[in-house]
Amino acid sequence: MKIKKGQCAEVEISDIAFGGKGLVRLNGLAVFVDQALPGDQVLIRITRKKKNHAEARVLELLKASPHRIHPPCVYSGFCGGCKWQFLEYAVQLEYKRQHVRESLQHIGQIKDVTVHPTFPSPLTFGYRNKMEFTCTDQRWLTPAEMQHFKTEKEFGIGLHVPGTFFKVFDTKRCLLQPDLGNHLLDDVRQYITSSGLPAYGLRSHEGFWRFLMLRHSVAHNRWMVNIVTAADDPQALQPLANALMQKFPEVSAVIQNVTSRKAGVTTGEFERTLAGASTLTDNIGAFAFEISANSFFQTNTPGAAKLYDTVKRYAQLRGSETIMDLYSGTGTIPILLSEAARAVIGLEVVPGAVADAERNCRINQVKNCHFVPGDIRKTLPAITQRPDVLVIDPPRAGMHKDVVKQVLALLPERIVYVSCNPSTLARDLNLLQETYQTQEVQPVDLFPHAYHIESVAKLVKKMA
Ligand SMILES: C[S@@+](CC[C@H](N)C(=O)[O-])C[C@H]1O[C@@H](n2cnc3c(N)ncnc32)[C@H](O)[C@@H]1O
Repeated sequence: MKIKKGQCAEVEISDIAFGGKGLVRLNGLAVFVDQALPGDQVLIRITRKKKNHAEARVLELLKASPHRIHPPCVYSGFCGGCKWQFLEYAVQLEYKRQHVRESLQHIGQIKDVTVHPTFPSPLTFGYRNKMEFTCTDQRWLTPAEMQHFKTEKEFGIGLHVPGTFFKVFDTKRCLLQPDLGNHLLDDVRQYITSSGLPAYGLRSHEGFWRFLMLRHSVAHNRWMVNIVTAADDPQALQPLANALMQKFPEVSAVIQNVTSRKAGVTTGEFERTLAGASTLTDNIGAFAFEISANSFFQTNTPGAAKLYDTVKRYAQLRGSETIMDLYSGTGTIPILLSEAARAVIGLEVVPGAVADAERNCRINQVKNCHFVPGDIRKTLPAITQRPDVLVIDPPRAGMHKDVVKQVLALLPERIVYVSCNPSTLARDLNLLQETYQTQEVQPVDLFPHAYHIESVAKLVKKMA
């Protein structure tokens, strides 16, 4: 029987697939089912049919997997912030490990490597130190709102429904951030509502209020509030900045970013400090890090400490090594490794992140780190010094193939590869495979209830 769009079927989900969707085979065709778990018996409807696979959604849960739990968040089921709240945490960790292992096997053709059990996140709720809420002039109505709402769609500020850039619902409370973040979100929502200025239309690209970004320092329990607008009107924001500083002693920085770009990114063309400091300070281990509004910093601080501990263990430093850290961000890895190495060279493209990294070295009195600004494709070939250990922590897309070639030319003894994307990790390890053996991989969970996973891989140069 041919599978068609719109068709319904009663099935038992057999496996978990990329992106955290349930997987079932219908007449030999792989069907990916949103919001379904292995062991669930469900009535599904096919929503999309492609040549080699189909997609489906659940119409009715007939019998639940034994690993299903009651999700504490009222938005579970349609919020893109975290899609796995209904799955026991221990099983999330095992599925993440399986995903890393299968990516290495199928994409990387790396079959004989130990993938350790996933390190759990120290916190499973309230763990995010950074949240971004989007403003919209026409919010998406939640199922609960649909029952009561009589008026036209109106302003909202919150998280996205996955799949579409313009579906943003009015998020009253997000359990992934510490609760004070929800009070800040509420005050900003009220201020915007009564400001008389329009929220940005995600389709019309007109309007003023664009994003609210909140950052939290775990070490000091301080907050940075970063308000992103489409135009420069500091008078419109100053009363809000003053009110937040006065009401919440935990708020230590209120920033404005201004962007005229249509793309949904919070980084402005320029930034100003409206009240308090221009950065937020958090700690990892014995070191302090000053973080600007737009710098990269791992979003789960205690989880990041576990990640970096693994990096240090896999680097096997004796104190005499020169380390090179590709994609060094605000200098976290160089600074954390500095006391166990002779010298560390960090390479990073964002000038603000390089400035943060240099300032972080000064704050921590670290003197053996040096940073090279610019795109690694251009800066790496100019470096003549051969490192003993190379640390690589690229963005989701992994390394550019030119960078892989440059890494192979550098020929360090050991490579520690940190990745937030098992697919590109597997692809890059495959490209390095002729010269480097992947000895072990440690998944570290920084994103409970989302299917994302960080991994650290230890590679050693093969004998000639
Ligand atoms: C996943 S973050 C890692 C940051 C850092 N290792 C940490 O743990 O905080 C990736 C970093 O790579 C930087 N980056 C992205 N593309 C780059 C490129 N072509 N050249 C240099 N740096 C790049 C980004 O700005 C970002 O800071």
